[in-house]
Amino acid sequence: MITNPREMHVVTRHLRKAGKNIGFVPTMGYFHEGHLHLMREAKRKNDILVVSIFVNPMQFGPNEDFNQYPRDIARDSSLALEVGTDCLFCPSAEDMYPEGFDTSVSVNFLSSTLCGPSRPGHFAGVATIVLKLFNLVRPHQAFFGLKDYQQFIIIRRMVADLNLDMEVVGLPTVREQSGLALSSRNIYLSLEHRTTAAALSKTLFAAQRFITERKLPTPLAALEFIHHTLAAEAPEMEIEYLEIRDAESLREITSFASRSVIAAAVRLGNVRLIDNVLVEPSNSP
Ligand code: PAJ
Repeated sequence: MITNPREMHVVTRHLRKAGKNIGFVPTMGYFHEGHLHLMREAKRKNDILVVSIFVNPMQFGPNEDFNQYPRDIARDSSLALEVGTDCLFCPSAEDMYPEGFDTSVSVNFLSSTLCGPSRPGHFAGVATIVLKLFNLVRPHQAFFGLKDYQQFIIIRRMVADLNLDMEVVGLPTVREQSGLALSSRNIYLSLEHRTTAAALSKTLFAAQRFITERKLPTPLAALEFIHHTLAAEAPEMEIEYLEIRDAESLREITSFASRSVIAAAVRLGNVRLIDNVLVEPSNSP
């Protein structure tokens, strides 16, 4: 395990000199099958797998769960080893944000929408730490889950806009049998809320199917269907936002002519959940 950023730089330099391809999975730890899937793919496609664990204070708001965020480095290390991690990078907050740290990376429009308004500063915190990690690890490919769809789009935009010589790969959301997207924060859910939570993905997938079958011809009709279904099947679920957007630009759309994403954030008790499904464009009118 490497904890010192300078040491990470040295290892990266050696690996690059030796002609190795580096696959990178940045995480905040407390691994579940979603993380492990990213790692297996990153390892399969590259010579070397680097995984980072860093619970990044800069991306948590003052009223968010930074102190409570689940951590288990011992378990994470052994899981990372099992899936073939060559280098586990676990820096300290003091090393990543030393006294006088004063820079922030913001991806402007893409961070202002969907989860943006309820989490001010969150995506700037994510973009800043991810760029720092990219500079330390200098990966050929970095792997992200589509579970955090907006995060994936923001990172891909940042890499293109800032001319980073690397590829950002997005992999589908790993789910429980019930359809609930795996998340480190699912441990906060009560047993009852866990069952209710599954209604979200179930409804998003039903909408996706009905859109493909032309039973929901417009985004407006699809949104009405989802609101209506969730109100009936999960009345205690509070919807923070439910949006259908262009899958690349995250701009609002009025038809399903381009690839789109149905994205939602909801609250069940104190727990905030996000999920999304992609909808392929329908060609003919
Ligand atoms: P974390 O929540 O630990 O997630 C690390 C990676 O795992 C992200 O790319 C996330 O999208 C992916 N992931 C989480 N749940 C998933 C699931 N059910 N299926 C597939 N992939 C899943 O996201 C972060 O950490 C941080 O914001 C980070 C990018 C590390 C920056 O601090």
